[in-house]
Amino acid sequence: MEDRTTKGRVVIKDEWPGYSLSLFTYPEHYHEDVESVYIPHGVIMDRIERLARHIMEDISDHNIMVLCVLKGGYKFCCDLVEHIKAIGRSSNKYLETRVEFIRLKSYLNDQSTEDLQIIGSQDLSFLQGKNVLIVEAIVDTGKTIKALLKHVETFQPKMVKVAGLLVKRVPNMAENLPDYVGFEIPNRFVVGYALDYNEYFRDLNHICVISEVGKRKYKI
Ligand code: HPA
Ligand code: MG
Repeated sequence: MEDRTTKGRVVIKDEWPGYSLSLFTYPEHYHEDVESVYIPHGVIMDRIERLARHIMEDISDHNIMVLCVLKGGYKFCCDLVEHIKAIGRSSNKYLETRVEFIRLKSYLNDQSTEDLQIIGSQDLSFLQGKNVLIVEAIVDTGKTIKALLKHVETFQPKMVKVAGLLVKRVPNMAENLPDYVGFEIPNRFVVGYALDYNEYFRDLNHICVISEVGKRKYKI
């Protein structure tokens, strides 16, 4: 089996404090609710371009079925697909890209709950015989993604790869998942770029660290 780790990842160290908020623009309503800009939007975009190239190199067929894990994955998915298309246009290697959406829910406040619910498309029989790319914003223990992989594999796809924008260094982190990783981050709760805290912060373009004020304010 192919070594999933050879393509590398951007590793953000535990000591990284992030950039001061005053150096960037962000929605004013989140003033006080975030501590720092952890990964600026432009850096996210540049890294996704590189991931798109890796994906193009690995998929020799002409089609790819993208399975976007909502809601957190929607921006990553959209930007990744745009980059795949742009690379195709400039290199004359067009990939037919189709996108399907699936919703999983396992977090309340900043805590993972045990029960994984698949909401939306439960019947994924359209994946049969296809090259499938699961696109997920953040992976920590990998429990969610492993459960989803098991579910997807029952529909007999030709190949399944997983792209994770972020992997989190938690004590029992998923060592060899996903296949494509944008950034490895410390065990901190991050928001923005479609990642939420109880549905807030998805409208923040940068990936930021939530502040204690923010956690209290939006707790349910
Ligand atoms: N932020 C938002 N959603 C998440 C996170 C996080 O750090 N970890 C798992 N789901
Ligand atoms: Mg969430």
